[in-house]
Amino acid sequence: MLLVIVPLWALLAVTEQSPSVESCMCEWTNSERPFPFDQLNMVEATASKCNSEMPLKKSQALEAMLSGLERRLLQLLEDVSKLEKEKDEGLYGVLSLQVIENEMKDINQLTDNLNSTTQGHRRLTLETSQQVREMKAVMEQLETYDKLHVVKTESSNTRLRRDLENCRNEIHPEVQPTHPYQGHCPHGVFTNISGPRVTTAGEYPGSYKYGAWGQDPKPEVGKESWYWLVMLTSSNAFGHYVRLYSSLSSLIVGVSTPGNVMIHTTNPTTNTIQGPNVVLYNGALYYNCYNKGAVCRFNMTSKTISILQLPQGTRFNSKANFCYLDECYPYTDLDLATDESGVWVVYTTTQDLGNLVLAKLDEGEEPTIRQTWHTSLYKLGVTNTFMTCGVLYATRFVDKDREEIFYSFDTATGIEEFNLGIFLKKMAPNLNSLNYSPVDQMLHAYCNSQMVSYKVLFE
Ligand SMILES: *[C@@H]1O[C@H](CO)[C@@H](O)[C@H](O)[C@H]1NC(C)=O
Ligand SMILES: *[C@@H]1O[C@H](CO)[C@@H](O)[C@H](O)[C@H]1NC(C)=O
Ligand SMILES: *[C@@H]1O[C@H](CO)[C@@H](O)[C@H](O)[C@H]1NC(C)=O
Repeated sequence: MLLVIVPLWALLAVTEQSPSVESCMCEWTNSERPFPFDQLNMVEATASKCNSEMPLKKSQALEAMLSGLERRLLQLLEDVSKLEKEKDEGLYGVLSLQVIENEMKDINQLTDNLNSTTQGHRRLTLETSQQVREMKAVMEQLETYDKLHVVKTESSNTRLRRDLENCRNEIHPEVQPTHPYQGHCPHGVFTNISGPRVTTAGEYPGSYKYGAWGQDPKPEVGKESWYWLVMLTSSNAFGHYVRLYSSLSSLIVGVSTPGNVMIHTTNPTTNTIQGPNVVLYNGALYYNCYNKGAVCRFNMTSKTISILQLPQGTRFNSKANFCYLDECYPYTDLDLATDESGVWVVYTTTQDLGNLVLAKLDEGEEPTIRQTWHTSLYKLGVTNTFMTCGVLYATRFVDKDREEIFYSFDTATGIEEFNLGIFLKKMAPNLNSLNYSPVDQMLHAYCNSQMVSYKVLFE
């Protein structure tokens, strides 16, 4: 008995004198509070909310910072779940805690920067500060999980440096890439999609059921923050002008400067817009020309139109549309798309038996087809398509609240996948004109006259 008691006393004495590895283990057992994921989720939601509300206040800098902050919070969430896993394995996630602490410092730094930028937006500052304060409070609470204040290690330093680098990049968002990224995505692998980030009825709430909107991925100098909107103002099928907004905020509040750029005063007429799936690229609008199996390119500077005739057998005039359940979206024979590498067109032909055909366009004096791919996906079973990093994605209707990104075709490898299972939360049953913006990796959609955008999440 005595032999057993003596070592125990000795151990207790040691524990009290100087903390050691054994005492750390003790500490952990005593504080078995589960990590408060709820709180983190809440902070993330708050940041997300901030992010979606900010554009209204006409501050590009704020938008960038908030989106940076939001990404940091996502990162934090990821690190915390890593920590949780380490705990499950019986190890005390000392390094992870250090990383999290560092991240929180960065986040605090970011929120401070954010705070100083909001000067001049008094009302906004008040709201934001409140939210930031709350987030800060939660962060500080989370900090209490780091009971050990462990010595910095090389790995956490490396990580911190990387994070700071990311942070800097986020504060000064990168300009859009200009090289083709076919088969090699600079952002990583497309894994998921966020909930709706921007939802707005814009300038004409409820007026036009079909249209498209977005940002020019290769804008002219001085027009980097511009947004464009095309509405099918005649018969839900035809359009004849592009409406421009100097920023996302202006689009949301419905103040259009510089206003409209007209293709023609008559709608429809030769070479005006037919169908909603149009894109703006390098100062030119690409769309299905009225009553032709062809792509029109309208140069908004010179106001001239170039025509690219698609191959014989191309279906047009609402003959091979995107469909859901028993209905089809009128005049969606051609779907124009943009990604990191430029402009694409998705269509089908009689000889392809209604399966999707994808073509990469070359912009030049006259637009031409650089290359064509033939898929085995039946177009009528698809609600929309978009391109990201040289990969074609297709969606299908699930129910009134959800659309599924179910299909991909990689132009670099020719590999098709039919079961991606990435779900989009919808604001209305019909999700149209999906298009990806390589500038900020947002997916824009036009949804029963609302403009919606989602963030594409890469890993
Ligand atoms: C924001 O800045 C103001 C003054 O510039 C300061 O009083 C306030 O405490 C700051 N808020 C936060 C959350 O840091
Ligand atoms: C994808 O994102 C949605 C919304 O953010 C989320 O609810 C879902 O769990 C995510 N799915 C995966 C597989 O990560
Ligand atoms: C549009 O026209 C302008 C002026 O003629 C020209 O400089 C520009 O290259 C054209 N853009 C495209 C995409 O063709």
